[in-house]
Amino acid sequence: MIDYEGFLQLVQKRRSIRRFKPDPLPDDYVNKIVEAARFAPSGANSQPWEIVVVRDKATKDRIVEIVNEANASSYKLGQTRPKEERHPADDRPPGGRPGFADAPVFLILFGDPRLEATYPLSAYTMNRASITPSSLANVFLYMHLAAASLGLGSQWVTATSQPLPQALIKQLLGIPRDYTLYDTMVAGFPDQSPRPRLVRPAQEFTHAGRYDTSKYRSDDQVKKFIKAIHDGRATIAD
Ligand SMILES: Cc1cc2nc3c(=O)[nH]c(=O)nc-3n(C[C@H](O)[C@H](O)[C@H](O)COP(=O)(O)O)c2cc1C
Repeated sequence: MIDYEGFLQLVQKRRSIRRFKPDPLPDDYVNKIVEAARFAPSGANSQPWEIVVVRDKATKDRIVEIVNEANASSYKLGQTRPKEERHPADDRPPGGRPGFADAPVFLILFGDPRLEATYPLSAYTMNRASITPSSLANVFLYMHLAAASLGLGSQWVTATSQPLPQALIKQLLGIPRDYTLYDTMVAGFPDQSPRPRLVRPAQEFTHAGRYDTSKYRSDDQVKKFIKAIHDGRATIAD
C-alpha cells in the first residue's frame, strides 16, 4: 500500500507536459492508465465514462485541425479582452502545430448523461449538471496520476470540448449523439521538464472552523495572483 509520502511524491511529480517524444506508447501503458480509471469515484457509482483511445496519425491530425480551426475564433474572442486581463493564449495567433499534436495517444473522454438517472432524486433534479462533470474530472485525474506514476507525460486538453470541435470529433469517431465530450488527455514520453509553477501554500486557503476573514484576498491581490499565473511565475513576488 502506497504511504502518504509516496502519494505526495506522485502528485508533485504529475505536471502538464506539452511536448512529447515521437516514440509510440506501448499498449501496456494505456491499459494501465485505463485500469486506474475504473476505480475513480463517481456520483452514485454511476461510472458515466467512455474513453476513446486514438493512436491513428490521420485521425489525431484531423482532431488537431478541428481544434486549430476553432482556435481561430477563440483568438478573435481573446482580442476583445482588455490587454492586461488576457491569458498568453489569447494573444497567440491561430495556426501552427500545438505541442499536444505530437503525443502518440489521445484519450478522449465522453460522458453518458443517461447515467444521471442513478442519482438520488434530490441530486437528479438539482445537481445533475455538476455531478457528471465532477465524476468525469475524477476519472481524468486518476488517469493523469496513473500516467505520472508510469513516468509518462500527459496534458489535459480542453479545446476539444468546445461546441464545434465537440460535434465534429463526435462525428469523426462515431460517438453516440447523446454523449458529451468532456475533455481530451494526451499522453506519451515527455520531451520537456516543466518549470516550477505557482502553488498556493495550504495555510493561505485553509480556514479553521469558520472562514478566516484575515485571509480574504483583496481584488488587487487576486489580480496580482492572476498576473503571476499568466506570466508563468513561481511566486507572486518575483
Ligand atoms: C480542467 C482543466 C483544464 C485544463 N485545460 C488545459 C488546456 O486546455 N490546455 C493546457 O495546456 N492545459 C490545460 N490544463 C492544465 C493546466 O493548465 C495545469 O494543470 C495547470 O497550469 C497547473 O500545472 P501542472 O498541471 O503542471 O501542475 C487543464 C487543467 C485542468 C484541471
